[in-house]
Amino acid sequence: MNLPKLTDLNVAGKRVLLRLDLDTNPDPNDLRIKASEETLNYLKEKGAQIIIIAHKGRPGGKVDESLSLKPFQTIFDKWGAKVEENLRFDSGEENNDPEYAKNLIKRLGDVYPGGASFAYINEAFASSHRESASIVALPKLLSHAAGFRFAKEVENLSKVFENPQRPLLFIIGGAKKDKQDYIKSLESLSDKILVGGRLPEYYGDMALESVRNKNEQDKLVIANLVQDKEDITLNSIEVFEKEIAKAKTIVLAGPMGKYEEKGHGQGTERIFKAVSSSNAFKIVGGGDSLLILPIYNLEDKFDWVSVGGGAMLEFLAKRTLPGIEALKQ
Ligand code: 3PG
Repeated sequence: MNLPKLTDLNVAGKRVLLRLDLDTNPDPNDLRIKASEETLNYLKEKGAQIIIIAHKGRPGGKVDESLSLKPFQTIFDKWGAKVEENLRFDSGEENNDPEYAKNLIKRLGDVYPGGASFAYINEAFASSHRESASIVALPKLLSHAAGFRFAKEVENLSKVFENPQRPLLFIIGGAKKDKQDYIKSLESLSDKILVGGRLPEYYGDMALESVRNKNEQDKLVIANLVQDKEDITLNSIEVFEKEIAKAKTIVLAGPMGKYEEKGHGQGTERIFKAVSSSNAFKIVGGGDSLLILPIYNLEDKFDWVSVGGGAMLEFLAKRTLPGIEALKQ
């Protein structure tokens, strides 16, 4: 894929709007933050003035102090980078308002005077399935490139649809309802899709059918949930483990339950461990998955750890993203 390369972009002495994904914890060891370090090091070395733009959570166009990006500032001090406030505090971001994008550049021009022109870098692969102003409108207005990690995401994830070893298994969990659409669009690529986490709740009666009664040929297997709905059942774990043992390519996206609460982590622990010890080509991705890996020391056990959750699934289903198309223009 021909993405504009960061090494071809003139950033020396420029004000660089660096779009990151900070929809995570303000922890310097956080994997999404670590994933942006190569680009940050390069920009610092080139003498760019780095202005970080990002979102956190879904504040819906209103200021919500609990979703402030201020706690991230100290992490980026060592690159001399400035962290702007949560872009989603303004509805223009999610509405992809071109005026909002223009005003953002103008406002930042006033905050960071100096006359040097602006450049834009997308190092937020995890947000690039969103048609928001900072992902698709800004690259129309500024010279731009993909961050180093962004380019590696595209290269490594492409291996899943370019001649994968089969059976190709997807295991999709978490709570975001929009994953249901990705599951639908991944049906033609995959041999089997296992669904856990909160998602079974969105499948109505299908989720009540026992996983044990599924036909071998059924592509979609929806986990049964324990009574309080915070984890998948033991039966479901066992059925999922059997599928993992058969697979030659595995994509794991999201937890199987509320792993962060005591007593609800069994499904997540067993499924993450089963995938990580399989001999398949294996990929894991998503905000929660990145938080789970260090809990069980699994960071090095996958062929690729993607920063993207929804973005990874949408890229695998459509082989592109709004953020990729915007960079290619
Ligand atoms: C993520 O955390 O997956 C991305 O930041 C996207 O967040 P969103 O689903 O709220 O758009």
